[in-house]
Order: sequence, then C-alpha cells, then structure tokens
Amino acid sequence: MFGTPTFRQQFPIFQHHPTLVYLDSAATTQKPQVVIDGITNFYQKENANIHRGIYDLAAKATQKYESVRQKVADFIGAKNRSEIVYTSGTTAAINLVAHSFLLPRLEQGDEVLVSAMEHHANLLPWQMACKAKGANLRIIPIDKAGNLDIVAYQTILSAKTKMVAIVHISNTLATINPIAEMIELAHQKNIPILVDGAQSTAHYPIDVTTLDCDFFTFSGHKLFGPTGIGVLYGKAAHLEAISPYQFGGDMIRTVTYQDATFAPAPQKFEAGTTNIAGVIGLGYAIDFINQFDKKAIATYVKELGNYAREKLLMINDLEIIGNAQNKTGIVSFILKNAHPHDVATFLGEANIAIRAGHHCTQPLMDFYGIPATCRASFSIYNNRAEIDFLVAEVKGIQAFFG
Ligand code: ALA
Repeated sequence: MFGTPTFRQQFPIFQHHPTLVYLDSAATTQKPQVVIDGITNFYQKENANIHRGIYDLAAKATQKYESVRQKVADFIGAKNRSEIVYTSGTTAAINLVAHSFLLPRLEQGDEVLVSAMEHHANLLPWQMACKAKGANLRIIPIDKAGNLDIVAYQTILSAKTKMVAIVHISNTLATINPIAEMIELAHQKNIPILVDGAQSTAHYPIDVTTLDCDFFTFSGHKLFGPTGIGVLYGKAAHLEAISPYQFGGDMIRTVTYQDATFAPAPQKFEAGTTNIAGVIGLGYAIDFINQFDKKAIATYVKELGNYAREKLLMINDLEIIGNAQNKTGIVSFILKNAHPHDVATFLGEANIAIRAGHHCTQPLMDFYGIPATCRASFSIYNNRAEIDFLVAEVKGIQAFFG
C-alpha cells in the first residue's frame, strides 16, 4: 500500500510535481492533504489565541491545542500530557534541556557524553554548556561502519558524568542506536539521558515510559506535520524541578514589578503566543500516522534503504557511508570522481531531490575524512521504481565524471 500511486495521492506535492522523485525526507517530510486542510481549516474557521480569551472561539482553540498535547503523549507513550512541552523543534527542545536542566547542575570537571554521530543540534548545546562551566564533553566512539561502541560507552560513563545525550537514528549514517540499553546503563549510575528522536519518531514506535528516558525530543515537520513545531518530553519530576528557559506572557502565576512566580509545567516553558496552528497541524499529522501500523512503516522504510544500498553498490567507485548492522532508510554515499554537490545538482536536473553536504554533522565528516556525502532518505510515499531511477541516474553521472 505504501508508495503506490493511490497512496501518493494523499500528498498533493506529487500532483503539482508529477515527475518529482523526493528522496529527502530526513530533511523534511512532504505533507498529506489532511494536515494542510487541518491547518487551513483552523485559520479559516477556528483561529483565536489560546489560554487568554473566554469567548467561544478562544475556548475552542485552547481545547484543541491542549487535546493535541494528549495526542502527543499517547503517541510517544508518556504517562501524562503535562510531560509534553511544545517547542519550535528538536533544536529548541535540546537547547531548553541544556540550558535549564544541565547548566545549573554542571560544575567544573564534570562530564557530558554525546556520540560521534550527533547532529550539530545535539552537540552544540552541550558543547556550550561545558564551555560555560569548564566541564568536559566526552565523545562515545563509533566504528567505521557507523556502529556505536557500547563497550566504550560503558567505560566512559562515570561518577563525573552529569548527562548523556544520544541520537536515536543518525541522520547521516542511518544507524539505529541501542537506546534502551544505553538508557539502562546510564540509569545504573543515576545519570539522566536525553534521546534525540528527530529521525525516528515518524517511522518507529516510541514508548518513552518503557524506554524510561529522561528527555525525548522530536520535530513536527519530519513527521508529516508543519515546520516550527516540536516536542520536548521530560519526566514530570524533571520538568517540575527545572526553571523556565524563556520568560513572558502565558507562563506565569503571579507578577509584580520586581518579581514573578511561574505556572506549573508544561506551561512555564511556553512563553508568548506559541505556534498554535503548528500544534493543530501536528495533531493532524499524528492522526495521519495513527492510521497505520508503526511497525509496518518501520519495515517498509528500512527495506527501501536496503534495496537502495544493494542497487547503489553495483555502481563502480561508489562507497556507502554508514554500514551499521542496525540501520534504516537513509543512504549516504560518495562517488570517487564527483563531488556530492555536483551529483546532487545533476540529480536535481532529473527532478530527483536528495541532500548533499555535511548534513549538520561536520565532526562525523572529519571522522570519515570526507567533506560531504550525497544522502537519499526514504519515507512511506517512496517506492522501488524511484530508487531504480535514482540508481540509473547516478550510473550516468558516474560515467560522465568517471
Ligand atoms: N536535520 C535535517 C537533515 O538531516 C535537516 O537533513
């Protein structure tokens, strides 16, 4: 069913661009009509600010905004909707945790652990916190295939470790990290752990309660929803304990000229008018995904990745970057004689959309000694015929440059 012409009809981009081969879902997913209609409908018929007005429209907008919070909680298995904080995306969610949770707890000589495959969004906030406090950022190594070194991780975890932050699925290598095991190992030493779920939440079943992670983050736009909306899940005790990150309207309990007290979580983290329509759109995106079996989505996307790897590897002088044992539908590759940007430009002329560059993982590029890769990433609207076309075009490019 996934990837068929009938299935693709749900995504209007393909009607407007009938020859488009969209292989960049790790950057952002295309949007189904129901999400676009849901947002339009909200602006046309339901728009009002939330938590403020007592008139009917405002009450209904508030009710809808808060009902999405419950939907998100159910979607990722949170115990309570108060554990769901709306942010502008994964980046903002991680920054919130680094600033409000870690910084006040971090001291000189402490350590924070991230992996060698982190996106800059799950690297720089911790790097900045460590610099501010004279703490050390330790890097969990990976092997050349892109597997995380779990033994090294166990060795590096110590009494000095104040936080672990780990990407669930690498946006560059496709590696699926063993987060359940990593969370358990961190907790054996009472160390809190954040999981960056930007690449996993659309395609993999997530249950934060079973996982028992302290924080989990994801973005709406990688989940068939709109840009500018993301989620921070935090355990209730953590969210209660930490201070707000931004200050202003709608996050207070009382205010005088000289002082203020704050609303309980999650409201104290949502200062100002938030992305209300984004939240509404996220709700429709979750409804859209909930029609399907998440395991079937995961299998489909993973198989597309395997198929692409198998076919691409038949091309001379093509190397795949990211060969971990457990991986998903993201395929990074390089051609011996052509720069990734040239490859992407040529593919673009054939209406094949891939991403080329460092994918916001510059240290990972340094690890492999390359400046960039081509990256094809798959979702449920893709199919094998598109991969065959990609492979044929890459073959042509290889012949041209080779
Ligand atoms: N993080 C997104 C990507 O990997 C933008 O392309």
